Amino acid sequence: MDQEGYHTVGKEMLTVTDTRTGRTYELPVERDTIRAIDLRRIKVNESDFGLMSYDPGFTNTASCKSYITFVDGANGFLRYRGYPIEQLALNASFLEVAYLIFYGEMPTSAETDDWTSNVVQRMGAQDHIASILNGFPRDSRPMTMFVSLIAALSTCYEDSQDVQSEAARLLHVYRLVAQAPTLAAMGYRHANGLPYNRPVDNLSYSANFLRMAFASSENEYQHHPTLERALDTLFILHADHEQNCSTSTMRAIGSGLADPYCAAAGAAAALSGPLHGGANEAVIRMLNEIGSIENVHAYIKRVKTGDVRLMGFGHRVYKNYDPRARIIKRISEEVFDVVGHNPLIDCAMELERIALEDDYFVSRKLYPNVDFYSGIIYEAIGLPASMFTVMFAIARTVGWLSQWNELMQDSEQRITRPRQIYLGADKRDLSP
Ligand code: SDX
Repeated sequence: MDQEGYHTVGKEMLTVTDTRTGRTYELPVERDTIRAIDLRRIKVNESDFGLMSYDPGFTNTASCKSYITFVDGANGFLRYRGYPIEQLALNASFLEVAYLIFYGEMPTSAETDDWTSNVVQRMGAQDHIASILNGFPRDSRPMTMFVSLIAALSTCYEDSQDVQSEAARLLHVYRLVAQAPTLAAMGYRHANGLPYNRPVDNLSYSANFLRMAFASSENEYQHHPTLERALDTLFILHADHEQNCSTSTMRAIGSGLADPYCAAAGAAAALSGPLHGGANEAVIRMLNEIGSIENVHAYIKRVKTGDVRLMGFGHRVYKNYDPRARIIKRISEEVFDVVGHNPLIDCAMELERIALEDDYFVSRKLYPNVDFYSGIIYEAIGLPASMFTVMFAIARTVGWLSQWNELMQDSEQRITRPRQIYLGADKRDLSP
């Protein structure tokens, strides 16, 4: 027992001494973590609230226990349900990986067929969704339209508020995974004043996106298998990534029992920021601004003076090369064999080469992340920069929903409601 009468026998403990009172406390350590609520035992007076931890940006706070994705930032490992991302990228389809992320095991061929059919048959958009989209000005940001349409899906299903039953949650997952590429393609078509294309049952998930985005009424669209595979692999690489900003947002909104369509819209909104999923668009704009290899050194100088950030570089968790960036770089060579070389890749690779030799980046452990090369592939496929983050969101939808589903089954989870350190005005009276 410690002085507070807490049973600590046989447990790993952190012993802390509060020099304000001289008292010592033993805080249980589980999986290299202490429970923040245990800090509340540490008080000066009995009437005190007790200690809290202050952690802006949650740089050192575990918000949940999860079984889905593991990232080893020091070594640059990424695993979905234990499988290394490199193996999944080479040997699985996006829908198989989506099944793995949601259920925890790779699907049998029968399970793959059932899962695929449940998703593809739900890819068609309802008419009123198209009416909402038609109301947006043509020059609206595709990501803003995507966020709005994902939320609008909540109006398509009578059971959208049903978050407690497992069967309802599975339906929500099918629908959102199915609708994400459709709404994305529709946003692209609307922005370009083109008619919408419907999905077709005999195409893969990624081929359906390509067809919905690029098919024209004049001729039947034939996607190139290399581009289909490249897109499918990009979706695999972007599917989940632990408690990143947008996934944490999904969990926060879901913790209030909000419907998953509104929660996913909130997550997509979080993803749209240039420090998060919006970085892939920012990278292409940065590479176009640099223009040629000759200008790379001058840009690096601006980064080192703090004038600009090297977008697509750095990561909260990876202090090593993001394994996804390495795979994307490999895919880009396959894509360029089909569509022709994109000179922006030369700029990007020169930026990487210089940065990885420069102490500013090395000392801060800044390496290329998933967003550094992905935009170059999306551009090679034929998409404008404004669509890049939407592509990220299509893939991450299954990650958001799987993490949300895990939250809904976690008896330890409660509504997200952090505390604060209040530095504002003390009580004062309002003079009439
Ligand atoms: C994604 O969390 C995830 O898992 C996200 C993601 C996912 O799959 O969900 O992996 C997807 O969002 C990838 C990240 C995409 N964002 C960018 O590429 C934008 C550029 N990167 C940075 O803004 C930054 O690296 C972050 C936002 C990614 C991480 O920010 P942190 O962890 O809060 O780090 P920081 O801003 O505190 O930077 C630490 C130091 C600072 O220098 P000092 O103040 O110590 O001198 O590194 C510097 C920063 O100035 N720094 C950079 C830099 N990133 C960090 N300097 C120049 N260029 C950069 N890109």
